[in-house]
Amino acid sequence: VALIMFLQLSTYASRPGVAQETELHLMPVPQRVARDKGEFRIDNTFTVHMTGYPDPRLPAAAARFLHRLQKITGIPLAMSPAQQASEQTALEIRCNGAGEQIQSPRADESYTLEVSIRGARLTAPSPLGILRGLETFLQLVDLDGRSFFVPSVKIEDRPRFPWRGLLIDVSRHFEPVEVILRNLDAMAAMKMNVLHWHLSDDQGFRVESRIFPKLHKLGSEGQYYTQEEVREIVGYARDRGIRVVPEFDMPGHTTSWLVAYPELASAPGPYQIERSWGVFDPCMDPTRKKTYSFLDSFIGEMAGLFPDEYFHIGGDEVSGKQWNASPAIRSFKRRRHLKDNRDLQAYFNQRLLKILAKHGKKMIGWDEILHPDLPKSITVQSWRRQDSVADSARRGYAGILSYGYYLDHMRPAVFHYEMDPLGKQAASLTEGEQTRILGGEACMWGEFVNPDNIESRIWPRTAAIAERLWSPPGLRDVHDMYRRLEYANRELDSLGLMHRVKYLEMLQRMSGEGSVAPLKTLADLLNPTGLGVRLRSRKYSSLTPLNRMVDTVLPESDTARMFGDLVDNALADQPMPAGVFQEIRRLLICWQENENLVKPMTEQSFLLSEIGPLAKAVFELSVKGLEALDYIGLRQKPPETWSTEAALLLQESEKPQAEMLIAIVPSIKKLIDAANNIK
Ligand code: ACM
Repeated sequence: VALIMFLQLSTYASRPGVAQETELHLMPVPQRVARDKGEFRIDNTFTVHMTGYPDPRLPAAAARFLHRLQKITGIPLAMSPAQQASEQTALEIRCNGAGEQIQSPRADESYTLEVSIRGARLTAPSPLGILRGLETFLQLVDLDGRSFFVPSVKIEDRPRFPWRGLLIDVSRHFEPVEVILRNLDAMAAMKMNVLHWHLSDDQGFRVESRIFPKLHKLGSEGQYYTQEEVREIVGYARDRGIRVVPEFDMPGHTTSWLVAYPELASAPGPYQIERSWGVFDPCMDPTRKKTYSFLDSFIGEMAGLFPDEYFHIGGDEVSGKQWNASPAIRSFKRRRHLKDNRDLQAYFNQRLLKILAKHGKKMIGWDEILHPDLPKSITVQSWRRQDSVADSARRGYAGILSYGYYLDHMRPAVFHYEMDPLGKQAASLTEGEQTRILGGEACMWGEFVNPDNIESRIWPRTAAIAERLWSPPGLRDVHDMYRRLEYANRELDSLGLMHRVKYLEMLQRMSGEGSVAPLKTLADLLNPTGLGVRLRSRKYSSLTPLNRMVDTVLPESDTARMFGDLVDNALADQPMPAGVFQEIRRLLICWQENENLVKPMTEQSFLLSEIGPLAKAVFELSVKGLEALDYIGLRQKPPETWSTEAALLLQESEKPQAEMLIAIVPSIKKLIDAANNIK
C-alpha cells in the first residue's frame, strides 16, 4: 500500500527538466502558474457565485461550465449559479468590467484564478477573461484515489497574441452548421478567438444573399448557410469569446459568383461551378463601375450579418489571364498608368477599401494585397513565407501568420508548434513592429475534407497552434506538449468533437462485417499525404467521395510516435534495457502477424484493395525490425546481403503508397542503422 501511495504522489512531484507549470495538463499553458500545497475537493455542495459586471454571456457560460464539470465528475451539481455567496461557495467569479460590445483584437482576455483548499476565485477585467478562466478551471480538474479535485494554484494569465484563429473553408466542401458549432466549442476550450470563415471560392458560394439571391441559388447547389444560420453561428461564437471574420475571396477565386452574375467577370460567360482543385482564371472585372456598385450593395448586406470590424477580401492567386486577354482592361491599365496586374489588383483593393470603410469595416487579405499603394490600415495574412509577416510589420502593416499552420499539408503537431509568428526575425524587430504581428491562424482548406473527416484534420493539431499563440514564447518542450495534447484530446472528446469517433466509424465502415481491430492496427501506423502529393496522384474533383483509407487515417500517428520514443530509449542506452527491448519486440510481432488478418479484407474489398501493398510493407518492415533487434541483442554484424535488402525496403517504404505514408519507417531505419553499425 505504501508503495502505491508513493507512486501516486510521485506523479505529482516535479520531474527534472520539465517546468513546474507544465506538470499540470493545461493547454495552452498559462503565462504564470504558482503551485501551492493541497487541493480543493469537489463534491455535491459545489456552487458558483458571480459578482461584478452582469454580462448576459456569463450566467450561460457558468451553466455550461457546471454541466461540463458534472459530466467530468459524475457528481450531481446545482445547475445554476447561486444567488448569494456563502461559506459553501466553491467558485467565486468576479467580472470587473463590461469589455467591448463587439469583440476586437484589442480585447482584454486576462484573468486570475486562485484555488486553495477552501475554494476558488476567478477574477477578470472583462467577460472574456472569465470565459478563458473557466476553461482553465475545467482543465485543472483531476482524479486521485480519493475523489475529483483541483490542485491549489495561483494562475495569472493572458494571451501572448491577440489573434488566435482557425480558418475553415466551406466552399470546396460544405460543412453543416453542427460541424461549425462543434469546432467553436473546441476553439473555446483551447482559448482561440477567431473563426475565419472562408465562405466563397470557385467551388461554391455559401451564404444566403437577399439582395443578390442568385449568388447562393446558382452558386451553391443548395449547400449554403441561411442568414438565420449565420446569425446563430456568430452568436454562438460570441458567447464563447470568439470573433467571426467572414472571407469573400476576390477578385480571383470567384467562379461561383460569376455563375450567377457573369457581368462581373473580366471575360464573357457563361460560367459553371468549378469542380476541380487549383488556381482558375475567372476573375472580377476591376475596371467597371458596375463591379463596385455590386460589391457596395453586397458588402453592405454582409456587414449587417457579420458584426466583426474586419472583413476578409481574400486577394490571393489572381491568375491575371482574363485581364491580359481583355483589350478593354489592357487599355484601362494604360490610361491609369498601372504597369502590371499587381498594380491593377492594388487599384481594385483601393476601391474596395473605400467600400469597406463606408460600411465600417477594416480590410484584411492574403499576402498578395500588400502593395505600396495601400494604406497602413490594412492587415496582411501571410501564407507564402514565414518571414513575410515580419516584413509587413517593418513596412508598417499589421499581420497574422498562416504559413506553417496549413493543416491540409498533414504535418505533425510538432511542426506547427515550432512555427512562431515572430520567428527568427523577432530580435530584429522593434517593440512597435512586434506589436503589429497580431498572431496567427490555422488553416483548414477544404479540398480533402468533409463532415466525416474535417475534425480529425483540425484536432488535436490545432491545439498545439493555439498554445503557440497563447503561451510564453519560451515554452518549447515537445515531449510535454504531446503529453498534454492527449489530455486535450480527451477534453475534445468530452465536448462532443468527432475527430476520434469518426475515425473508428470510417474504419468500421471499411471493415464490413468483420472486426475493425486488424484494420485499425494497420491504420494506426499510416498517415495521409498532404494536398500537394494528393493533387499529383490522381484526378480529383468535388464529386470524388472522401471515403478511402487516405481520407480516414489520422494526420499524425500516436502509435508511431510512441514506438519512436521506445526505439530512441532503447538505442540511447547500451546494453538495451530489457523491458524496452521486449516492448519493441511485442509491437513488431503484433504488426507482423496483423498482415494475415488484413490480407483477406484487402482481397475482398474494393475500397481496401489499394492498401494491400501497405499491409505487406508493414509486415516486411516488422520482420526487418525484429531481425535488426536480434543482431543488436547478439552484438553481431548483419551480413551484407541483409543490409542491402534492408536499404531497399526502406527506400521503397518511404514512398507514398495509395497516397499514404508509413509512419514507423524512420524508427525501423534507426534499428536497421544500429544493426549495421555493429563493429
Ligand atoms: C491560399 O492558400 N491561397 C491563401
